Amino acid sequence: PFDRERLDEIIETHRGRAGALLPILHDVQGEFGMVDDDAVPVIAAALNLSRADVHGVLTFYHDFRRRPAGRTVVKVCAAEACQAAGGRALQAAAERLLGVPMKGTTGDGAATLEPVYCLGLCSVAPAAMVDGRVHGRLTAERLETIVEEAMR
Ligand code: FES
Repeated sequence: PFDRERLDEIIETHRGRAGALLPILHDVQGEFGMVDDDAVPVIAAALNLSRADVHGVLTFYHDFRRRPAGRTVVKVCAAEACQAAGGRALQAAAERLLGVPMKGTTGDGAATLEPVYCLGLCSVAPAAMVDGRVHGRLTAERLETIVEEAMR
């Protein structure tokens, strides 16, 4: 879902600058909550890029979302310090709790589960972010409680 007029405005703001693609994609996601596949050809044409170029960047960066997010967004840290501190078990617990794999959204749109690559909480790993709030020293139980509360 995106508003074509607003998309054009975002493109205009950045067009002409070197490396305009990333800031455009960030702004599009900020505005619409995701980067719709239908926005890709519009952005590509405006920047004189191929669709494959835009698509490549879109899928390379984990931050971009190509489907609408669930009402609660759970991001489990998958970077090194957290992995070393039991991050994988945390990830598995979140998958079990929500019944979706990483990058999945529950069928009812209640929640989206995503990996994130370092939340700056390495010293209190493993960490996760639930609806924009970060939590460290997580156990599967604590994460479950936090997620359940967020979804209530
Ligand atoms: Fe997870 Fe830094 S590696 S917070």
